[in-house]
Amino acid sequence: MEVQRVLHMNEGEGDASYASNSSLQRAVLTKVKPILEETVLDLVGDETFLETEVLCIADLGCSSGPNSLSVISHIVDTITAACQRRHRRPLEFQVVLNDLPGNDFNTIFKSLPSFYDKLKRGNINHGPCFVAGVPGSFHGRLFPRKSIHFIHSSYSLHYLSQIPKGLVSEEGAPLNKGNTYIASTTPPAVSRAYYEQFKQDFNSFLSLRSVEVIAGGRAVLTFMGRRTDDPSCDENCVTWKIMSLALNDIAREGLIEEAEIDSFNFPYYAPSAAEVRDIILEEGSFNLTRLEGFEIGWDPNPASNSNRTSSDNLKRATYVSKYVRAVAEPMLTSHFGGSQIMDALFQKHTERIAQLYSKEEPKYYPLVITLMKK
Ligand SMILES: C[S@@+](CC[C@H](N)C(=O)[O-])C[C@H]1O[C@@H](n2cnc3c(N)ncnc32)[C@H](O)[C@@H]1O
Repeated sequence: MEVQRVLHMNEGEGDASYASNSSLQRAVLTKVKPILEETVLDLVGDETFLETEVLCIADLGCSSGPNSLSVISHIVDTITAACQRRHRRPLEFQVVLNDLPGNDFNTIFKSLPSFYDKLKRGNINHGPCFVAGVPGSFHGRLFPRKSIHFIHSSYSLHYLSQIPKGLVSEEGAPLNKGNTYIASTTPPAVSRAYYEQFKQDFNSFLSLRSVEVIAGGRAVLTFMGRRTDDPSCDENCVTWKIMSLALNDIAREGLIEEAEIDSFNFPYYAPSAAEVRDIILEEGSFNLTRLEGFEIGWDPNPASNSNRTSSDNLKRATYVSKYVRAVAEPMLTSHFGGSQIMDALFQKHTERIAQLYSKEEPKYYPLVITLMKK
């Protein structure tokens, strides 16, 4: 599977789109907001940038929904209000939105007029803000050297640049049969291959950004993580375990072959805090100013958390399955086939999540880190 070609969220603004199914990611952004504010205030308060007139902000993995511009608008407001408090001339902003070339940039660009309107309508007197799109992989160079002051990225860096090498034996037999990611039955060599790929990707991500970010520039990066050292612990693996169970369900119905499941692997890795810290320290270009994790329910809506009847479980499972579909469908379609198979798969996926909800309250454990370029 050529990851960069098949990895994109469902496009447009329809019922199955990422734009209509990204409230989980929005809830994550809300949790990270205080850290984001603190970090951008540190940046504008830093003496290094007192003479800066144009601040360059990049959002990496912006996707096509409303989340990216809503974060950007919050950053611009926070910085401009801080300049006003300090009787400093409003800064101008250059904003670059990055995602893979297959991303539906058009949907996000169409919402730019209302983004600019909102900036004008607010009671903060903003300097001009110029938004541009930069299609390309953040696993490669994206921007000119020393051109970026602030990097934001949310829910994107857990995607690997490629399927790890070493998931098949020397004879070409799949080593992680029946699974689509690390699971309790995964051989240690497969878990190691996933970690090695993440390490290589994250290390090169930091080196590439270190060329592009100005000394003293900051970054806030949020991505999926795990609480435990063991990558095969259930808490870490349950998301894709549910997907593997649903795939095996439709294989039993003869819709796909078991061998197709054996040869499919998600290009994804959720690291532990210790793994992330070690890579940052070893790479050495950035000071790690904060590293923490937090829990968030698969359904982050507090109103639904008190309900436990089977119909409530099904409602919540439908909600979760829809956002997983918005994220994973293009990848799954490229391997397993079109909409009929996807409809059957996500029907099973919803049922499997409802069963899980009847037993437990599954949670994600994202990590958020802040960095300062040395
Ligand atoms: C779940 S979406 C998150 C979108 C947005 N940041 C949010 O919080 O709603 C993840 C995005 O990361 C993008 N992505 C994954 N790997 C990437 C890469 N190597 N370079 C650029 N973008 C990437 C995907 O295409 C996808 O749009």
